[in-house]
Amino acid sequence: MTEKANIDWAKLGFAYTKCDYRFHSYYKDGKWDDGELVTDDFIRIHEGSTALHYGQECFEGLKAYTTKEGKIVLFRPDMNAKRMKESCEHLLMAVYPEEKFIEAVKKVVLANERFIPPYGSGASLYIRPYLIGIGANVGVRPASEYLFGIFVTPVGPYFKGGMATNHFNVAMFDRAAPRGTGGIKVGGNYAASLLAHKQATDAGYADCIYLDPATNTYIEEVGAANFFGITKDNTFMTPKSPSILPSITKRSLLYLAEHYLGMKVSETKIPIDSLDQFVEAGACGTAAVISPIGSITYNDKVFKFYGDGKEVGPKTKELYDLLTSIQIGDTKGPDGWVVEVK
Ligand code: PLP
Ligand code: COI
Repeated sequence: MTEKANIDWAKLGFAYTKCDYRFHSYYKDGKWDDGELVTDDFIRIHEGSTALHYGQECFEGLKAYTTKEGKIVLFRPDMNAKRMKESCEHLLMAVYPEEKFIEAVKKVVLANERFIPPYGSGASLYIRPYLIGIGANVGVRPASEYLFGIFVTPVGPYFKGGMATNHFNVAMFDRAAPRGTGGIKVGGNYAASLLAHKQATDAGYADCIYLDPATNTYIEEVGAANFFGITKDNTFMTPKSPSILPSITKRSLLYLAEHYLGMKVSETKIPIDSLDQFVEAGACGTAAVISPIGSITYNDKVFKFYGDGKEVGPKTKELYDLLTSIQIGDTKGPDGWVVEVK
């Protein structure tokens, strides 16, 4: 077995640690090269690259875990490959083939084995694939050359405290447009979210909730995660909108809530003024995992969830325990969800 890097896994937050290898593959003259593992954590691209000027860029996020038996596993990497394909198609970028995406992810993970947090540490290896338009260009048009890259970094909780309640306000800005790019994972959505995020954190909140960009009345996202609420009658409810990123974690929870926990599930419009229907609420995503929401402040009104906003509700805890135990291989999930890297 590879000797692990000297890292205090329990102290990791969501931050970058340089690992040994990353994967790079270049697209030129209509085809991708074979790609290779490289050690340099800098990339050299042309000053006219469309990614730099016109945001022709997309990315993904997934995680690798160590199981009790010491195996390395990924959670639903096929879903990330497919979502990246959809992002590329929308931005007119060359698609990196889905099968090759999964192969490349496995290759980078294995090459950086000493950075994969051990079983039981609570940490995981965050994997960041990205695809950017490169090459000499100045007009607003799709690039003719692309770089597909993957780097990895060991991470701990995204929101402070992990499975502790966090508090949110409602953004004064939209992160996406009604017929824009909210439903795909492109850099521009995140640039558009920075100011609202700063205003929220400056005001003492963990992050902000975005409302639908057309009417500003329905809940969309919780920062870089999807929203869910649990109603008094035990329904797992999550917003439906074309401008929400279709979270893989959210889609997994919808399935687990219904088929493993016997809850009712609903994907529907959730008016921001209907928050009192929820006993519990949370944010879910690869980075966020499940982060319980203690309260949401909207127009000077504070909606508090379970235990006066201070406690993690039982359903949120149950969903968290089930999801994470499937991800680390302790509980068998639906076929194909957990993929071994070897
Ligand atoms: N919403 C946004 C805006 C995100 O950036 C993410 C992270 O990927 C999510 C939701 C959660 O998606 P997933 O569960 O696929 O990581
Ligand atoms: C993820 O959960 O993978 C995300 O993309 C969140 C990230 C923007 C930090």
